[in-house]
Amino acid sequence: MDKRELPIGVMDSGLGGLSVLREALKLMPQEEFIYYGDSANAPYGTKSTGEIRQLTENCIQYFLEREVKEIIIACNTATSASVSILREKYPELPIIGIEPALKPAALGFPGGNILVTATELTLREGKFRHQLHCYEGKANIYVQPLGRIVEFVEGGRLESPELDAYLNEVLAPWTALGLDAVVLGCTHFPFAKRQIRRVVGERPVIFDGAEGTVREAARQLERRGWLRGEERTGKVTICHSGTDEQWLKQAEELLYGNEA
Ligand code: DGL
Repeated sequence: MDKRELPIGVMDSGLGGLSVLREALKLMPQEEFIYYGDSANAPYGTKSTGEIRQLTENCIQYFLEREVKEIIIACNTATSASVSILREKYPELPIIGIEPALKPAALGFPGGNILVTATELTLREGKFRHQLHCYEGKANIYVQPLGRIVEFVEGGRLESPELDAYLNEVLAPWTALGLDAVVLGCTHFPFAKRQIRRVVGERPVIFDGAEGTVREAARQLERRGWLRGEERTGKVTICHSGTDEQWLKQAEELLYGNEA
């Protein structure tokens, strides 16, 4: 089988990874993608590291059964819990992870005030602690778990007073610092960017890791000669582990709708 013809697998606990797939479609429109949202088990962010490792492994098995040439773990939480273990286990398969975009934020605002938001698990895992250690001398870095946004994205309740109240409660106090940057370290959060912007105001630059992740995914394929020719037309198949048909409709709206 010509590797170039195989699809790329993109996974997340639910709908969040579509913010990464959206960027992948801009950069690699000629590729075929299979998106798998583990919606039956979302959210991941409040589970134990061991549980997430098992769930992520199940998603990898799903893709292996369908033969993919690369897997993008479009979930910061699953990446934190399992990417290094999976790379060791499947050395022939390029596995791309995503991490909070702290590097571009810290390098863009030396000495600035940076707020990193993510799920509780991402913020407590060693992967992020290591990132923090690398950049804490370069900027003032603060962290805020913001995992409840996931419920609002999954429930299709982005325009709700409850989400606004939650964001106000947890984010508004940070604005007194004079934030220069806010890092969205969970792939669900870019779908609530407009709502987050309303609370943090116009000043901070909002970073997320999607673009850097898909650039790395393309680089890995290019290095192996596995990219499809640019004259080809791509394709997206969206699947999930749940039974709610509404989920697929929501997924299409988030993927192809206007960006927040
Ligand atoms: N979208 C995921 C992330 O990037 C996880 C959300 C969740 O299921 O808690 O962290």
